[in-house]
Amino acid sequence: MQEKISQLSVAIDSFTASSVEEVEALRIKYLSKKGEITALFNDFRNVPNEQKREIGQLLNQLRDKAQDKINALKESFENAQVHVAGSDLTRTADPIALGTRHPLSIVKNEIIDIFSRIGFTVAEGPEVEDDWHVFGALNFAPEHPARDMQDTFFVEKNPDVLLRTHTSSVQSHIMTTQKPPIRVLCPGRVYRNEAISYRAHCFFHQVEGLYIDKDVSFADLKQALLYFAKEMFGENTQIRLRPSYFPFTEPSAEMDISCNLCGGKGCNFCKHTGWVEILGCGMVDPNVLEACGIDSKVYTGYAFGMGVERITNLKYQVKDLRLFSENDVRFLQQFKSAF
Ligand code: PHE
Repeated sequence: MQEKISQLSVAIDSFTASSVEEVEALRIKYLSKKGEITALFNDFRNVPNEQKREIGQLLNQLRDKAQDKINALKESFENAQVHVAGSDLTRTADPIALGTRHPLSIVKNEIIDIFSRIGFTVAEGPEVEDDWHVFGALNFAPEHPARDMQDTFFVEKNPDVLLRTHTSSVQSHIMTTQKPPIRVLCPGRVYRNEAISYRAHCFFHQVEGLYIDKDVSFADLKQALLYFAKEMFGENTQIRLRPSYFPFTEPSAEMDISCNLCGGKGCNFCKHTGWVEILGCGMVDPNVLEACGIDSKVYTGYAFGMGVERITNLKYQVKDLRLFSENDVRFLQQFKSAF
């Protein structure tokens, strides 16, 4: 029996297998009920009593050795399989690069969020427009310079097909198709024929607002804009309205906020005035209401419009407008936001 044990021990040392099936075959050959090692255990009862102790130990060692070897072979195949499939579930995950929203989208969404809290909804309209929606309905005189080739992009030299120069054109659509009360925001891209530089571009983005109802007053406009300025730039922000002119509003104003960089003390950014301009606004001109079929004796309204790039520059101090359209990820990745 001792001889048989040492033969099997040598055989175990030379165990090899090239698949899990071959490992299983080895197990059956040596360790199963009819296996060679099990057979030795069955013969054990014939071993003379005085040798039982010694042979018993040898047999146990042999069985453990075979079991260990088979387990080790099995394990090596399991690992190899995971490797081949390329799906090692224990490996740490590769970081997935998440995209970020464009800074102009972040700011646009924030503006919409602020005004939606006081009842404004959102309307969008076409970027290619006709003269009436961009200018005619909005009280632009026929010879107004904005209608000139120098300022407006025309499509195929047709003077009645043009790229909108402001999103007030969407308000023309709303006023002619809806009845007051109207309380709407018009975000979108607009086009103007300007040379591209760090401070001007041939397209930019606006959010304009329009509120028409009975008894809407300039005080309502001022209060809504003060609320907006504080929500956007902080509780301590102050506003200042300067008289201005737009064909579609009367009276008209431009609104400044106290410089959000120096808090109004004066710095390079606000050219030491303590104020920075952020939007245009006014009471909707009765001519506009009438042109769109709204009775100006019953209804009044206010309107305002702001450039999203301008607000974004104030919030994030982006010094060059061209960065917004170059799509350099090193620039874009710096903006993370809930909006
Ligand atoms: N439409 C104007 C512009 O593009 C902004 C504006 C809107 C001004 C509404 C007053 C009222 O400059």
